[in-house]
Amino acid sequence: MIWAVAHSNVALVKYWGRAPGPGHQPAGTSVSLTLDGLASGARVEERPAGSADRVGWDPPGPVAELSRFVTLARARLGIGHPLDVLITSNFPVAAGLASSASAYAALTTALAALAPGRPSADGLAALARQGSGSACRSMLGGFVQWRPGADAGAVTQLAPPEHWPLAVLVAVTDAGPKRVPSREGMLRTRATSPFYEAWLTAGGVDLTVVREAVRARDLPALGAATERNALRMHAAALGAEPPLLYWEATTVSVMREVWRLREDGVPAFFTVDAGPQVKVLCEPADADRVERALAGVPGVLRVLRSRPGGAPRTGPEPPSWAAPHASPGPPGDEKGPAA
Ligand code: PMV
Repeated sequence: MIWAVAHSNVALVKYWGRAPGPGHQPAGTSVSLTLDGLASGARVEERPAGSADRVGWDPPGPVAELSRFVTLARARLGIGHPLDVLITSNFPVAAGLASSASAYAALTTALAALAPGRPSADGLAALARQGSGSACRSMLGGFVQWRPGADAGAVTQLAPPEHWPLAVLVAVTDAGPKRVPSREGMLRTRATSPFYEAWLTAGGVDLTVVREAVRARDLPALGAATERNALRMHAAALGAEPPLLYWEATTVSVMREVWRLREDGVPAFFTVDAGPQVKVLCEPADADRVERALAGVPGVLRVLRSRPGGAPRTGPEPPSWAAPHASPGPPGDEKGPAA
């Protein structure tokens, strides 16, 4: 039996669109930050020859996709034995917190440890993205770039986690599953949104700014580019037919609170993926203040605190993780379990 643990990631330049044609290639280059503490664990065990694979999620997740992935991964990695696979996460699953990224990165890492050969890092990143595109970025720690292409260098580390100890606060506004999975949302945006091409073009400009801002540890430049990249991704999605609206009312309230903090002189910047949660970047010295402000927004269930995290790791034991540090939202707003 083997366990692997991998972290979620937040996209600073978003992946929102696949290139037409085979190979599940992204239409543009994305950049992410791997998030310490928001983790998934994959437990993989061999089953007796002749039995079927057994897969499961705890808390429950999409079993059919997981099962397809295990079949594909076994074939690619040359694993002859049937497998027993369990995925766990210590944060809300399928709610726009990239739990599928950490889940498939953890699973790919665990399967690689059982494989008879020594699969290359590029091969593993290419495999992970068959589970969830963004999972390939969780195969590395720190600031990670994923560009179109299956070759070496498609997924690269721009900077390790210790390069820039930013704080990342996640305002959880809704613990339910997302309405339209990102895969479907991307296809719909490409097929029907008149803003799709403009979104891809704008993303290319953001990429240049974000890469330079990471190199220079320039938070105002990174934050401005990250925020507008997120808003433009959602603008393209809103232009789809039927429209894709991933935000809740509280999502908008949190975005306004971040702008209010900036007016008060606190450099904090938000981003939102394909769900209602808001992730906020700030300096560690401002994290307490930002966390209090976000937790005070009506409708916020809790605020999780994170920072740049590392690459996946394996071991014989279940992960001894704590739930991420969380401060509860305003009293009376707790609608249900968020993790
Ligand atoms: O990894 P997927 O297929 O769930 O897509 C991720 C989509 C976004 O989170 C919205 C953007 C990104 O780059 O992570």
